[in-house]
Amino acid sequence: MDTTEVKERLTQSVLTVLKEEFGLEKIGSNGKLADSVSEYAGRLAELIFSELAQKEFEFFSDPEANKDVKVHEVSSDNKLNELTGAQWLWFTKSVLRTSYPSILGHDLRKSQGGNKPPQLMQELIEFFTKPGEFVLDPFAGAGGTALGAFLANRDSINIELNPASINIYHQVCEQEDIRKHEFIEGDCREILPIMKTDTFDFIATDPPYSPELTQTMSGQANQTYLRQNRKSSYITYSEDPRDFSKLEDFESYFEEMSEVGRELLRVLKPNRYMAMILRDAYQNSRYIPTSSIIADRYSKIGWILKGEKIWYATGSRIRPYGYPNAFVPNIVHQVILIFRKE
Ligand SMILES: C[S@@+](CC[C@H](N)C(=O)[O-])C[C@H]1O[C@@H](n2cnc3c(N)ncnc32)[C@H](O)[C@@H]1O
Repeated sequence: MDTTEVKERLTQSVLTVLKEEFGLEKIGSNGKLADSVSEYAGRLAELIFSELAQKEFEFFSDPEANKDVKVHEVSSDNKLNELTGAQWLWFTKSVLRTSYPSILGHDLRKSQGGNKPPQLMQELIEFFTKPGEFVLDPFAGAGGTALGAFLANRDSINIELNPASINIYHQVCEQEDIRKHEFIEGDCREILPIMKTDTFDFIATDPPYSPELTQTMSGQANQTYLRQNRKSSYITYSEDPRDFSKLEDFESYFEEMSEVGRELLRVLKPNRYMAMILRDAYQNSRYIPTSSIIADRYSKIGWILKGEKIWYATGSRIRPYGYPNAFVPNIVHQVILIFRKE
């Protein structure tokens, strides 16, 4: 059972009790009360799962191999973060399955294509930094990283091309009454070169995943799926020609991403990390392993690839690409590449 199933079961049980025991017959699945119940069930499910994570770690842990791990304490040798041994090792698993509840102005932020859950960014930031350290996001959107840094009690500096996205972040901060982290409006290719060398403790970012794709995975056969696919998978963030999603083809995208990668390597402090979230693509009947290509290009410009985490946010919609003729993937995961500057 995963968090989504636990959440659904909890929601259904509470709604049943409300209906049957209290006679609240009018609760529909879309009612306001039902929404609140579902939101709280989501939070409760997260809590249950973080407890289970600890227990599962203890259960699966090999006592002999892990005898020196300080399971419930932060090791005095830990120079990277403030996690206990169990939390540290749990994070190093290469697959991450989540169903975070919507928080911190999600209703505002959801108009930003590709917005990231602040809790995901918080998890990354809490592993790769200590409180008070500085995080950079050069493709900051509506502030998933900045909000994650806020949750983790770290500071962040953010670069974003689209003023509309920055405006959403500012509205969220006002609505939630939280301090605004610094946002610099502009093209990161122009702003990064004027930043000082060896400045940031961690870089967390999700750039546009590809140039805007004109063809879709569903081909021309079904216009409904054609439209749905364009809506969710291949996003254009703005009409600004400097937007990476406006680049003319994948090769230009990989070249420009490498250019940014060189500057990111310069502005990060030595021995620190970068987490970059990418999504592979499927176009013209071919799979394009964007994350592997970026991993390769970044290795060539001096980054050391340390690993990847496959992130699966449960609840992604499934569409009948290829059915019933050929295998076409429903790409429900994103790849978090972990690099280090050494
Ligand atoms: C996947 S979105 C980031 C979403 C963000 N993580 C969030 O939670 O809202 C990528 C962002 O990169 C921005 N972008 C594209 N090209 C850029 C450039 N050359 N310089 C700076 N930002 C750029 C887009 O405007 C878009 O907001």
